[in-house]
Amino acid sequence: MTEKDNVPGHVAVVMDGNGRWAEQHRLPRLEGHRRGARIARHIVEWAADAGVRQISLFAFSTENWARPKREVEGLMALLATMLLKELPKMQKKGVRFRTLGGIDALPEKARQAVDRACLETRNNKRIDLILCLNYGGQQEIIEGVKLAAKWAATRDDPEQALANLDTDTFRSFLWCAETRPVDLLIRTGAERRISNFLLWDAAYAELYFCDKYWPDFSEQDFLSAIDDFTSRERRFGLTGNQLA
Ligand code: IPE
Ligand code: IPE
Ligand code: MG
Repeated sequence: MTEKDNVPGHVAVVMDGNGRWAEQHRLPRLEGHRRGARIARHIVEWAADAGVRQISLFAFSTENWARPKREVEGLMALLATMLLKELPKMQKKGVRFRTLGGIDALPEKARQAVDRACLETRNNKRIDLILCLNYGGQQEIIEGVKLAAKWAATRDDPEQALANLDTDTFRSFLWCAETRPVDLLIRTGAERRISNFLLWDAAYAELYFCDKYWPDFSEQDFLSAIDDFTSRERRFGLTGNQLA
Protein backbone atom coordinates (compact mmCIF):
# COMPACT_ATOMS: atom_id res chain seq x y z
CA MET A 1 0.00 0.00 0.00
CA THR A 2 1.39 3.42 -0.90
CA GLU A 3 1.43 6.31 1.58
CA LYS A 4 -1.41 8.75 1.16
CA ASP A 5 -0.38 12.37 0.89
CA ASN A 6 -0.38 14.28 4.15
CA VAL A 7 -2.12 11.57 6.15
CA PRO A 8 -0.39 10.97 9.50
CA GLY A 9 1.53 7.70 9.27
CA HIS A 10 1.33 7.09 13.02
CA VAL A 11 -1.59 8.26 15.12
CA ALA A 12 -1.52 7.85 18.91
CA VAL A 13 -4.59 8.21 21.08
CA VAL A 14 -5.10 8.84 24.80
CA MET A 15 -8.57 7.33 25.07
CA ASP A 16 -9.72 9.27 28.10
CA GLY A 17 -13.11 9.89 29.68
CA ASN A 18 -14.67 6.42 30.06
CA GLY A 19 -15.29 6.92 33.76
CA ARG A 20 -16.85 10.36 33.41
CA TRP A 21 -19.00 9.12 30.54
CA ALA A 22 -20.33 6.36 32.79
CA GLU A 23 -20.94 8.80 35.62
CA GLN A 24 -22.81 11.10 33.28
CA HIS A 25 -25.07 8.19 32.32
CA ARG A 26 -25.38 6.94 35.91
CA LEU A 27 -23.69 3.68 34.97
CA PRO A 28 -20.80 1.84 36.62
CA ARG A 29 -17.33 2.95 35.46
CA LEU A 30 -16.76 -0.46 33.92
CA GLU A 31 -19.66 0.11 31.55
CA GLY A 32 -17.80 3.20 30.38
CA HIS A 33 -14.76 1.04 29.70
CA ARG A 34 -16.90 -1.43 27.76
CA ARG A 35 -18.27 1.35 25.57
CA GLY A 36 -14.77 2.70 25.20
CA ALA A 37 -13.48 -0.65 24.01
CA ARG A 38 -16.05 -0.57 21.22
CA ILE A 39 -14.74 2.76 19.99
CA ALA A 40 -11.19 1.41 20.17
CA ARG A 41 -12.29 -1.31 17.76
CA HIS A 42 -13.84 1.19 15.38
CA ILE A 43 -10.99 3.68 15.35
CA VAL A 44 -8.61 1.07 13.94
CA GLU A 45 -10.94 0.68 10.98
CA TRP A 46 -11.42 4.44 10.54
CA ALA A 47 -7.66 4.89 10.65
CA ALA A 48 -6.93 2.12 8.15
CA ASP A 49 -9.54 3.55 5.77
CA ALA A 50 -7.93 6.98 6.05
CA GLY A 51 -4.52 5.55 5.10
CA VAL A 52 -2.92 5.63 8.57
CA ARG A 53 -0.28 2.87 8.88
CA GLN A 54 0.15 2.66 12.66
CA ILE A 55 -2.23 3.46 15.48
CA SER A 56 -1.17 3.40 19.13
CA LEU A 57 -3.94 3.28 21.70
CA PHE A 58 -3.27 4.06 25.35
CA ALA A 59 -5.32 1.41 27.14
CA PHE A 60 -3.65 1.13 30.56
CA SER A 61 -0.88 3.19 32.09
CA THR A 62 1.72 2.20 34.68
CA GLU A 63 -0.12 4.59 37.01
CA ASN A 64 -3.53 3.00 36.41
CA TRP A 65 -2.61 0.02 38.65
CA ALA A 66 -3.29 2.32 41.60
CA ARG A 67 -7.02 2.49 40.74
CA PRO A 68 -9.51 0.50 42.83
CA LYS A 69 -8.83 -3.23 42.56
CA ARG A 70 -12.25 -3.95 41.07
CA GLU A 71 -11.73 -1.49 38.25
CA VAL A 72 -8.26 -2.86 37.45
CA GLU A 73 -9.56 -6.43 37.43
CA GLY A 74 -12.52 -5.42 35.29
CA LEU A 75 -10.25 -3.71 32.78
CA MET A 76 -7.95 -6.71 32.54
CA ALA A 77 -10.87 -9.10 32.08
CA LEU A 78 -12.33 -6.83 29.41
CA LEU A 79 -9.00 -6.78 27.62
CA ALA A 80 -8.78 -10.56 27.45
CA THR A 81 -12.38 -11.03 26.31
CA MET A 82 -12.30 -8.24 23.75
CA LEU A 83 -9.02 -9.32 22.24
CA LEU A 84 -10.08 -12.91 21.68
CA LYS A 85 -13.41 -11.79 20.28
CA GLU A 86 -11.74 -9.32 17.93
CA LEU A 87 -9.07 -11.67 16.68
CA PRO A 88 -10.97 -13.09 13.67
CA LYS A 89 -11.96 -9.56 12.63
CA MET A 90 -8.40 -8.32 12.92
CA GLN A 91 -7.32 -11.20 10.70
CA LYS A 92 -9.96 -10.44 8.12
CA LYS A 93 -9.15 -6.75 8.08
CA GLY A 94 -5.39 -7.07 7.87
CA VAL A 95 -4.65 -5.64 11.32
CA ARG A 96 -1.26 -6.52 12.81
CA PHE A 97 -1.63 -6.48 16.57
CA ARG A 98 1.26 -5.45 18.78
CA THR A 99 1.75 -4.06 22.24
CA LEU A 100 3.92 -1.54 24.01
CA GLY A 101 4.53 -1.76 27.76
CA GLY A 102 5.26 -4.28 30.50
CA ILE A 103 3.16 -7.19 29.29
CA ASP A 104 4.72 -9.62 31.78
CA ALA A 105 2.94 -7.88 34.65
CA LEU A 106 -0.54 -8.48 33.19
CA PRO A 107 -2.76 -11.22 34.63
CA GLU A 108 -2.31 -14.62 32.96
CA LYS A 109 -5.49 -14.52 30.84
CA ALA A 110 -4.79 -11.07 29.46
CA ARG A 111 -1.20 -12.01 28.72
CA GLN A 112 -2.25 -15.15 26.89
CA ALA A 113 -4.76 -13.24 24.79
CA VAL A 114 -2.10 -10.64 23.94
CA ASP A 115 0.46 -13.29 22.96
CA ARG A 116 -2.05 -15.09 20.80
CA ALA A 117 -3.17 -11.92 19.03
CA CYS A 118 0.45 -10.90 18.34
CA LEU A 119 1.34 -14.33 16.99
CA GLU A 120 -1.71 -14.88 14.82
CA THR A 121 -1.75 -11.43 13.24
CA ARG A 122 2.00 -11.07 12.73
CA ASN A 123 1.86 -11.25 8.93
CA ASN A 124 -0.96 -8.75 8.45
CA LYS A 125 -0.01 -5.65 6.55
CA ARG A 126 -2.84 -3.14 6.32
CA ILE A 127 -2.34 -1.35 9.63
CA ASP A 128 -0.45 -1.88 12.91
CA LEU A 129 -2.54 -1.63 16.05
CA ILE A 130 -0.22 -0.98 18.98
CA LEU A 131 -2.06 -1.41 22.25
CA CYS A 132 -0.18 0.35 25.05
CA LEU A 133 -0.65 -1.74 28.18
CA ASN A 134 1.06 -1.16 31.49
CA TYR A 135 2.83 1.54 29.54
CA GLY A 136 4.71 4.54 30.94
CA GLY A 137 6.86 6.89 28.90
CA GLN A 138 9.27 7.56 31.76
CA GLN A 139 9.63 3.85 32.46
CA GLU A 140 10.38 3.24 28.79
CA ILE A 141 13.16 5.84 28.85
CA ILE A 142 14.68 4.42 32.06
CA GLU A 143 14.75 0.93 30.53
CA GLY A 144 16.39 2.46 27.46
CA VAL A 145 19.08 4.07 29.62
CA LYS A 146 19.82 0.70 31.23
CA LEU A 147 20.15 -0.97 27.83
CA ALA A 148 22.35 1.85 26.58
CA ALA A 149 24.65 1.41 29.59
CA LYS A 150 24.88 -2.34 28.93
CA TRP A 151 25.59 -1.71 25.28
CA ALA A 152 28.28 0.83 26.11
CA ALA A 153 29.95 -1.67 28.45
CA THR A 154 30.52 -4.00 25.47
CA ARG A 155 32.36 -1.30 23.50
CA ASP A 156 36.15 -0.87 23.45
CA ASP A 157 35.78 2.55 25.02
CA PRO A 158 32.49 2.62 26.99
CA GLU A 159 32.87 6.22 28.10
CA GLN A 160 33.41 7.39 24.54
CA ALA A 161 30.49 5.29 23.31
CA LEU A 162 28.17 7.00 25.79
CA ALA A 163 29.61 10.42 25.01
CA ASN A 164 28.83 9.85 21.32
CA LEU A 165 25.38 8.36 21.89
CA ASP A 166 22.96 10.10 19.54
CA THR A 167 19.17 10.16 19.42
CA ASP A 168 18.90 7.53 16.66
CA THR A 169 21.06 5.04 18.52
CA PHE A 170 19.31 5.71 21.82
CA ARG A 171 15.95 5.22 20.17
CA SER A 172 17.00 1.70 19.20
CA PHE A 173 17.10 0.87 22.93
CA LEU A 174 13.50 1.96 23.49
CA TRP A 175 10.39 -0.21 23.32
CA CYS A 176 9.09 1.97 20.53
CA ALA A 177 12.11 1.16 18.33
CA GLU A 178 10.00 -0.62 15.72
CA THR A 179 7.23 1.93 15.45
CA ARG A 180 7.64 5.20 13.67
CA PRO A 181 7.59 8.53 15.54
CA VAL A 182 4.09 9.77 16.31
CA ASP A 183 2.71 12.24 13.77
CA LEU A 184 -0.62 13.01 15.41
CA LEU A 185 -1.48 12.63 19.09
CA ILE A 186 -5.18 12.79 19.92
CA ARG A 187 -6.52 13.07 23.46
CA THR A 188 -10.22 12.90 24.26
CA GLY A 189 -11.91 13.65 27.56
CA ALA A 190 -11.30 17.39 27.85
CA GLU A 191 -7.88 17.16 29.51
CA ARG A 192 -4.81 18.77 28.04
CA ARG A 193 -1.97 16.65 29.25
CA ILE A 194 0.29 13.84 28.08
CA SER A 195 -0.09 11.60 31.18
CA ASN A 196 3.23 9.79 30.62
CA PHE A 197 2.34 8.61 27.09
CA LEU A 198 5.03 8.12 24.40
CA LEU A 199 7.32 10.82 25.78
CA TRP A 200 10.16 10.09 23.39
CA ASP A 201 8.27 9.37 20.21
CA ALA A 202 5.76 12.18 20.49
CA ALA A 203 8.59 14.74 20.50
CA TYR A 204 7.31 16.30 17.27
CA ALA A 205 3.76 15.02 17.26
CA GLU A 206 0.99 17.41 16.38
CA LEU A 207 -1.40 17.56 19.34
CA TYR A 208 -5.16 17.42 18.93
CA PHE A 209 -7.65 17.63 21.78
CA CYS A 210 -11.26 16.56 21.55
CA ASP A 211 -13.42 17.45 24.52
CA LYS A 212 -15.82 14.53 24.08
CA TYR A 213 -15.51 11.56 26.39
CA TRP A 214 -13.95 8.59 24.63
CA PRO A 215 -17.16 6.48 24.33
CA ASP A 216 -18.74 9.38 22.40
CA PHE A 217 -15.84 9.76 19.96
CA SER A 218 -17.13 9.25 16.41
CA GLU A 219 -15.74 8.70 12.94
CA GLN A 220 -16.53 12.33 12.20
CA ASP A 221 -14.42 13.38 15.20
CA PHE A 222 -11.57 11.22 13.95
CA LEU A 223 -11.78 12.66 10.45
CA SER A 224 -11.83 16.18 11.91
CA ALA A 225 -8.56 15.38 13.70
CA ILE A 226 -7.00 14.08 10.49
CA ASP A 227 -8.28 17.10 8.62
CA ASP A 228 -6.82 19.43 11.21
CA PHE A 229 -3.49 17.60 10.97
CA THR A 230 -3.30 18.05 7.21
CA SER A 231 -3.59 21.83 7.64
CA ARG A 232 -0.65 22.08 10.06
CA GLU A 233 2.81 23.18 9.03
CA ARG A 234 5.34 20.86 10.67
CA ARG A 235 8.58 22.78 10.91
CA PHE A 236 10.78 20.50 13.05
CA GLY A 237 12.69 23.51 14.29
CA LEU A 238 13.18 25.14 10.89
CA THR A 239 11.67 28.42 9.72
CA GLY A 240 8.67 28.52 7.43
CA ASN A 241 10.84 29.96 4.66
CA GLN A 242 13.29 27.10 4.89
CA LEU A 243 10.47 24.65 4.32
CA ALA A 244 9.20 26.52 1.30
C1 IPE B 1 -9.60 6.15 30.21
O1 IPE B 1 -10.76 6.54 30.85
C2 IPE B 1 -9.37 4.66 30.31
C3 IPE B 1 -8.32 4.28 31.26
C4 IPE B 1 -7.52 5.09 31.89
C5 IPE B 1 -8.17 2.86 31.51
P1 IPE B 1 -10.75 6.90 32.39
O2 IPE B 1 -11.09 5.68 33.16
O3 IPE B 1 -9.51 7.58 32.78
O4 IPE B 1 -11.98 7.92 32.47
P2 IPE B 1 -12.05 9.23 33.34
O5 IPE B 1 -10.87 10.08 33.00
O6 IPE B 1 -12.04 8.79 34.77
O7 IPE B 1 -13.33 9.86 32.94
C1 IPE C 1 -4.32 8.19 30.61
O1 IPE C 1 -5.52 8.50 31.21
C2 IPE C 1 -4.17 6.70 30.50
C3 IPE C 1 -5.09 6.03 29.57
C4 IPE C 1 -5.93 6.61 28.77
C5 IPE C 1 -4.98 4.61 29.56
P1 IPE C 1 -5.63 8.76 32.78
O2 IPE C 1 -7.05 9.02 33.05
O3 IPE C 1 -4.99 7.67 33.54
O4 IPE C 1 -4.74 10.07 32.96
P2 IPE C 1 -4.84 11.21 34.05
O5 IPE C 1 -4.88 10.54 35.39
O6 IPE C 1 -6.09 11.98 33.79
O7 IPE C 1 -3.63 12.07 33.84
MG1 MG D 1 -8.94 9.53 32.82
